[in-house]
Amino acid sequence: MDRDQMSNEENYHFDVTGFLHVPGVLNPGEVARLNAILDETGSDDAILSLPEGQREPFRELLIHPQLVWYLNQITGQGFNLDRLPELIGSDPRSLDQALEGGAEPRDSGTAYFFKNGRRHCEGVRAIWALSDVSENAGGFVLVPHTHKANVEIPEDVLSGSDDLGLTRQIALKEGDLLLVGLSIAQGALAWKQKPAPRLLSFEYVGRGVIRSTGTGPITTSMPRPDWHADLTEEQRATQHQPGYRDTTPPPTLITDGKTTRTDPTVPRFHPSIYCRDANSAIDEKEFFFWDLCGYLVLRNVMNEAWLGEANDAIDVLEDQIVVGTDTSGGHTSLAGTGRPELRQLLSLPEPYCNPFRRMIAHPVVEHRLNWMGGSGVRTGNPSLFASVKGTSGHKLHTNGEPINPSRQYVFQNGRSYCEAITATWQLRDVNEEDGGFCCVPGSHKANYQVPPGVQSLDEPMGLVKHIDMKAGDVLFFADGANCHGTYPWKGELSRRGVLIKYSSRTFNRSGGDLVYPQNRWGDVVEGMTDAQLAVMRGPDRDNFGRNVPRLDVADGEVTVNYERGGGLYSADTPTGPLAGR
Ligand SMILES: [Fe+2]
Repeated sequence: MDRDQMSNEENYHFDVTGFLHVPGVLNPGEVARLNAILDETGSDDAILSLPEGQREPFRELLIHPQLVWYLNQITGQGFNLDRLPELIGSDPRSLDQALEGGAEPRDSGTAYFFKNGRRHCEGVRAIWALSDVSENAGGFVLVPHTHKANVEIPEDVLSGSDDLGLTRQIALKEGDLLLVGLSIAQGALAWKQKPAPRLLSFEYVGRGVIRSTGTGPITTSMPRPDWHADLTEEQRATQHQPGYRDTTPPPTLITDGKTTRTDPTVPRFHPSIYCRDANSAIDEKEFFFWDLCGYLVLRNVMNEAWLGEANDAIDVLEDQIVVGTDTSGGHTSLAGTGRPELRQLLSLPEPYCNPFRRMIAHPVVEHRLNWMGGSGVRTGNPSLFASVKGTSGHKLHTNGEPINPSRQYVFQNGRSYCEAITATWQLRDVNEEDGGFCCVPGSHKANYQVPPGVQSLDEPMGLVKHIDMKAGDVLFFADGANCHGTYPWKGELSRRGVLIKYSSRTFNRSGGDLVYPQNRWGDVVEGMTDAQLAVMRGPDRDNFGRNVPRLDVADGEVTVNYERGGGLYSADTPTGPLAGR
């Protein structure tokens, strides 16, 4: 490798999706050699133990320098082969089964760990493409982002009966390498492409991980000393050594605090103080999807009559639409004209305000806001975005990294804590060819910075998704954590989306009268210095620590820093000293 470490693009992709496609690792000659041996031997497995003269190319794959280079960074040095390599689909019984994987409940032996810039994906499947695999060819499939799923994957997604549009099959070329975290939900479908492509899969785990047994003759049964014969079944269960077939998986001890018993029918027992709440009135597929992707679409919230009323109001008020600034951020792939908006929808004259006021405190929306971020959210007077053909796109913005607490997505003990949510009501259909809203699903949990090419849509890396919607749908997105923006508008009809932004109970979103020390504290602040005033201000919109007065200390002196970063949302932040003015 001609570089020290994976690029931010590669880290971002693996972190957000749980997989990484590395094209062209093997050259055509190497692929042809591997295929010729497979043709010759007809061997589907045991390829590492083929006769001398045939096994060498497969043994080289086991420790291919590029693979090792990636696994050292993704899993950590000291990784091991967990299972002998196999051609995906060579055992027909493995096809069209429910997918396996997902991070809830957690399996530490395959899990994705990330802390303070250090990553350990404890299980990784390395798939070598020995044939081209077209999209929708069947074969290996996965559900992106599920290495970070906090919510159990619904059975319908695993079985494929209702995959919520999430399951993917990755198109590959001969010689490509696909690295997939083993905590990602994955499986194999019957091949549709004929002849069946050859995908050769090796499963690796981090050092020390106990997952599978080997094939050596002594792995059959754990040898026990004579004194084990005097132990009870429960006592023997605690005295097992890993790595043998009769101890992998280990025996389960069922406990209730008073008794212990073994139960071979229970693969794992891990009690919790929390119970799933069947009376929460939360649709569990919605909850899973929101946690996984950072956005959610509710269908048909508005009926025809309501839609008609809202669209009629806009037809009448069309001349009040104001064209704002171009939101392309200067990127040619997003270029176009300024964004047209109709503002202050709730205070329009009667009867035009009525269809928009119905959107406020709507039970269908409020219930989602409550489970997404907790009660106490507030909003303001929303705008209609009315992009016309040629209106610019919006540069993609926000992401899980860098962290900004006032906009973050956190999941803890069964609850979603999302501090900033936008609900967009669609008054017209939005199809992919029209442009409009797009996002990077899963980016609300990103641990790496969003690559510039993704933000500009110049290099979307297959990560950016357009969200198709129908008139009457409502889109929710974690607007401060999920990387999102818009494609330039290309539709013949104008876009009509009502954006209602909600702030959590915990953080201020934009200035206000009570930001000023005098307003907040009255006479208490009289005569204070600038440094003192800086800490007497009310809650303000802070943009990554750069847009509020803050204190610096140097050589024992405290000074106020008023320097501003970009993206200021509050007009109530001072730009310089105030004392005495
Ligand atoms: Fe935004």
